Amino acid sequence: MKEKILCLGIESSCDETSAAVVDSDRNILSHVIYSQVPEHQKYGGVVPELAARAHILAIDEVINKTLSDAGKTISDIDVIAATAGPGLIGGVLVGWMSAVGIAQSTGKPLVAVNHLEGHALVPRLRGASAGDNKTESISVPFPYLLVLASGGHTMILLVSGVGKYELIGQTLDDSAGEAFDKVSKMLGLGYPGGPIVDTRAQSGNKKAFKFPRPLCDKPGCDFSFSGIKTAARTFLAKYTTQYTDEFINDFCASFQASVVDCIINRLGNALHDERVINSAPKTLVVAGGVAKNSAIRSSMEKMATENGMIFAAPPLNLCTDNGAMIAWAGIENYLVGKVVTEPIAPRPRWPLTEL
Ligand code: KG4
Ligand code: ZN
Repeated sequence: MKEKILCLGIESSCDETSAAVVDSDRNILSHVIYSQVPEHQKYGGVVPELAARAHILAIDEVINKTLSDAGKTISDIDVIAATAGPGLIGGVLVGWMSAVGIAQSTGKPLVAVNHLEGHALVPRLRGASAGDNKTESISVPFPYLLVLASGGHTMILLVSGVGKYELIGQTLDDSAGEAFDKVSKMLGLGYPGGPIVDTRAQSGNKKAFKFPRPLCDKPGCDFSFSGIKTAARTFLAKYTTQYTDEFINDFCASFQASVVDCIINRLGNALHDERVINSAPKTLVVAGGVAKNSAIRSSMEKMATENGMIFAAPPLNLCTDNGAMIAWAGIENYLVGKVVTEPIAPRPRWPLTEL
């Protein structure tokens, strides 16, 4: 086997068409992210059919630009990887079939990457060892305790190797990202809501509104965010005049504080879970789009320090969907021999525990 592996990774499962060339020494040679946000903004969320069409229009250019930015041609690439699910199936098909086409025409090995695994492993490509502003980049070693929070999923995982993910807790209803997006929509702030609510919360009073902390008085590590969303709707229904900036900031800060408290409460229980105690992870990690959240990052960092653990999170541009995480997961899977040997169908649903 060659010493250094070069992988082209393709991501198209939601509203980003993205590709990257990454090598097995953790270098990102090129990375192109074409965001469809402007196309979906007027609908207040991702419209799957529009997303699929936009992926079709963008994919060839994104892949060609990625290769040329890296100064490579397809013959220099050792492995092709693409998201094969879970996600919006129209978009997944576009990226996956492009990867199949390239792999078949060049005879190169192909890796079917689970999108969630991309989020889960990217802290091993780039894990900043501390908060947003620190630049030190580590490769998070196995095992680690991971909060994976995105627009579609929220879970606590014990990650002990490539393909080795134990589910410690998960949301019973909405994801954390969905709650951020819905609250932003209720306030008329736009899409995607996470970054907007995060920014507003920084100027607000988190004690202004009493949001519930669902399940926090119960044992276990599961989440529930739908009650927080309903509480937001109930508060706003009572408030009929136009929202002031101060109101919005306080509302965002109070809502966000309830999400943060739930994550910290559930993580506290996770640290006492027998499987976690037995595997003794040294690093506490957050990944997925919601991992961009400044309050979640700082609270988890504090928790890690209090428990003698290291905190790590990917840099902000590797939290939301991106091709580099798929390329990296492609390399990690290739190195343990997980390549596609017969045709597979992309999967709209594909739990990490079924890898
Ligand atoms: O991982 P991701 O890019 O897509 C999925 O796989 O779902 O996550 C997108 C989610 C959206 O719900 C978005 O609002 C949320 O990540 N998000 C944030 C922040 N930035 C993005 N949520 C909270 N705070 C943020 N700063
Ligand atoms: Zn994602």
